[in-house]
Amino acid sequence: MKIIVVGTGFVGLPHAAVCSEYGHEVIAYDIDEKRIEAYRSGEREAIERYVNEPGLVSAMSKTSGRYLSFTTNLAEVIEGVDVVFMCLNTPPQRDGSTDLSYVTTAAHTLGELLAKRQEKSRVVIVNKSTVPIGTARLMESILNEHGVENFGVASNPEFLAQGSAIEGSRHPDRVVVGADNAEDFQLLRRVYSQFVNHVRIAYVETTPETAEAIKYMANSLLLTYISYWNGVGARLAETFPNILMEDLKVGVTADSRISKWGSYVSNGAGGSCFGKDIQSLIYQFKRAGQPTDLLQAVYGINEYQKQYIFDRAVHEAGFSFNNKTITILGLAFKKRTNDMRDSAALKAVESLLGRGVAHIRAYDPLAMDVAQSHWFHPDKNSLFERISYHESPAEALAGSDAVYISTDWEEFRGLSRTIMQTVPAPYLVMDARRMIPDYEALVAKGYDYLPVGGTLMKGEAV
Ligand code: UGA
Repeated sequence: MKIIVVGTGFVGLPHAAVCSEYGHEVIAYDIDEKRIEAYRSGEREAIERYVNEPGLVSAMSKTSGRYLSFTTNLAEVIEGVDVVFMCLNTPPQRDGSTDLSYVTTAAHTLGELLAKRQEKSRVVIVNKSTVPIGTARLMESILNEHGVENFGVASNPEFLAQGSAIEGSRHPDRVVVGADNAEDFQLLRRVYSQFVNHVRIAYVETTPETAEAIKYMANSLLLTYISYWNGVGARLAETFPNILMEDLKVGVTADSRISKWGSYVSNGAGGSCFGKDIQSLIYQFKRAGQPTDLLQAVYGINEYQKQYIFDRAVHEAGFSFNNKTITILGLAFKKRTNDMRDSAALKAVESLLGRGVAHIRAYDPLAMDVAQSHWFHPDKNSLFERISYHESPAEALAGSDAVYISTDWEEFRGLSRTIMQTVPAPYLVMDARRMIPDYEALVAKGYDYLPVGGTLMKGEAV
């Protein structure tokens, strides 16, 4: 099959690479020439500057130049195409709605080119991005406007998580295809032939609207799990004495009907998807005149979770942030990525600066460059000038009054020793990821330990 993938970010590039592994002729298209040059070069560093996913570079190197190629010129490759995958950004707007301008602009470009095809064989335009319900119809009308003949529009949402995009593309839990007619379903069955009738993978064929809705419901439900554990589970163990978070988790999730995923209590879920998608769903429901109480509660709990540990530090530990130096460990929204979009650390830094801290000492194993450009401000009097960037947890801890652990990087698990060697007690450890299993050693040496999902452990007098 001849496949074009439009948009070569975190979704498009892994998808293009994995499709080419199955012997399809795949052309990955992007308007960004620098990106395309980097992908063509085959050089790890250059590729990973744009998309850093385990296994991606080796997947690309297997097929590059044979089944996989890259272009910035759609017109040159359009002839004879069977399937076009749209993998474009759908960023949120202020009111929660989805900005579809990248998708609609690409649809117009495609419309113009497809209308001029010599060969009018069936072509299916497939949306992989998360898009509001009804977007497939909208794209259909744009292509009709341009007079494209013999085409279909389908919805095929992706369910990949960052850090496992290649693995997730090769071994998905399900493939969801929403289309309108047998011919289009058939074309997509050829693309995904290895997944059709698979013993483990659900291959769902449905309407485009159902496919679009599946993605929104899946992400909102995953965020609901997280908010339930943060808003109810963690809160139980923080409010009542003698409730042990780990036991609570095992006892509840041992029921095969209850998900284990989502039970890792935290400072809330970040990333480019959950917050954006639930807000978009709320917006879509509101426009349809439907109540949104449950979704709003889930979203609200998640946002509150991103900074409420500082209120606890004040009320439970009697800590005052004013003029203090605070270390923040972990800036990315989760481990194994440098992505800071919607990361709890962003809200934490704003909250800390708002509470009058004098200095924030930051460290993250991967996200330092991203953080520095995010918080860069030309005005030297900006509050963000109070952030300094460090090369190790020990360096970031030096001279601070308290530490806040924000991301679940494995390297933070052994932190109690580093803390004891670097900063003297009394000192406050705020652990929003429950990364210090041996916190008793800290407490015994006089350090206060305040975890999410647990009451304050007051440092013992030494
Ligand atoms: C998420 C979904 O998991 C994917 O299924 C979906 O395809 C993707 O969004 C998308 O829509 O593109 P991702 O954003 O990469 O994937 O991140 P997750 O691994 O799901 O983690 C999201 C956040 O939840 C992170 O901040 C993580 O630390 C947090 N989390 C996760 C918890 O706080 N507790 C948990 O138990 C699990």
